Amino acid sequence: MIYFVAAVAGIAGFLFGFDEGVIAGALHLLKVQFSITPVEEGMMTAAVPFGALFGALVAGRAVSRYGRRAMLLFAAGLFALGALFAALAIGAWMLTLARLVLGFAIGIAGLVAPLYISESAPAQKRGMLVSIYQLAITLGILGAYLVGFAFDDSWRTMFSIGIIPGLALFAGMMVLRDTPRWLALKGRPEEARVAMAKLRGVPADDPRLAEEFEEIEETAESDAGHGGWAELFAPMARPALIVGIGLFFLQQLSGINAVIYYAPAVFKEAGFGDASTQILATVGVGIVNVLMTLVGMALIDRIGRRKLLLGGFFFAALALGMIAIGAVTGAQALDVVAFVGLLVYIAAFAASIGPLPWVMMSEVFPLNVRGLGMSVASITNWGFNFIVVFSFPVLVSTIGLGGVFAIYSIVCALGIAFTFWYVPETNGVALEDIEEHLRSGKPFRQLGNTAAAMPAGLAGAVRP
Ligand code: BGC
Repeated sequence: MIYFVAAVAGIAGFLFGFDEGVIAGALHLLKVQFSITPVEEGMMTAAVPFGALFGALVAGRAVSRYGRRAMLLFAAGLFALGALFAALAIGAWMLTLARLVLGFAIGIAGLVAPLYISESAPAQKRGMLVSIYQLAITLGILGAYLVGFAFDDSWRTMFSIGIIPGLALFAGMMVLRDTPRWLALKGRPEEARVAMAKLRGVPADDPRLAEEFEEIEETAESDAGHGGWAELFAPMARPALIVGIGLFFLQQLSGINAVIYYAPAVFKEAGFGDASTQILATVGVGIVNVLMTLVGMALIDRIGRRKLLLGGFFFAALALGMIAIGAVTGAQALDVVAFVGLLVYIAAFAASIGPLPWVMMSEVFPLNVRGLGMSVASITNWGFNFIVVFSFPVLVSTIGLGGVFAIYSIVCALGIAFTFWYVPETNGVALEDIEEHLRSGKPFRQLGNTAAAMPAGLAGAVRP
């Protein structure tokens, strides 16, 4: 059941990646049909991250009030409608509006879907299950690249394909319930118990549910009625806020979307002569992104969040440094170094820096400010996404490709220090225990189950 839940919520991630990426393949056709200006082009592309910013802003409060399920149903409806309007667009203005609606839906779903999975998952598998969301994003990006390739002569077809996953998300959420944690928070313990039993595949009176359920109820009771901005910024929740904001800041400033949006241009700069090799290399990036996310999923609940993050930032810093050196020197032989650097960067991102902020933002906040906290984290994500994508062309023309990638590399090096000082090990820890640790006032990074926090050799030695 929990895999079905993760798969349905994952459709939201697919739409996130698809709607972000589909414009890349459609732009050259739109330019011919509507003779759009560069400003219109920019607005059309930016409408998605811009709309998403507002979606994330609205979703924080709404998800606490109306519930996780209602918000996903709402977003699903918007996804389908937005795709329909985009496909029927009679001008650039209509397409921009449609993409604003799609962005708004992505902003909502980008917050609610990881939350929905996290609150439904058993603690031991939570990292892997929430990472399904990131996997779905990468599949969406790859899907958009491929759709752009396959329907090269019809942008209307490209956009209309987005209607199908929108409807699938709606249908899937119709048959699912809200999370036990939200139902308990709303003072509906009976429904919460039934929802929990369904998720774990046992009868509602099964004694094995009792312990987990008791903890959920206790936390819900003590949290009910609270949960405003003041509490989110209070000293108790602050360490969680630092982790939520910090990880998305680092994720975006590692330069991922400069690569995702501008890959063909970057490959051209790196010496890939003809357009078809550039597209092929771009599809290669999409494939490595998907495959390495699977590797991350296999690792996240085994080696834990901290080690995976430290490793990810380390290899990303190294790889981005390689690209910078390759670009600055411009020597022919170094093109290969830059290309390998790009693939290593994508691999490190996909296995670690990509999924971990999503996983951890759904884990670290106390229940009563979880929606608000995730809203702030998501706004950080979209805000810096927007800034990176817009600054990239300008920065390249002023400090050069080498300079830009050197900045991204330094950001990743900072990520190592940030992880070391601020990021707790949440692997295998119940959401309620994470909250209890925060309330205890102990340093957040001291949280962690012993097996995950211990060096690998030792952990293995003490396992039964
Ligand atoms: C990021 C997106 C990015 C994607 C790439 C996500 O985790 O938030 O901005 O486009 O990964 O796979």
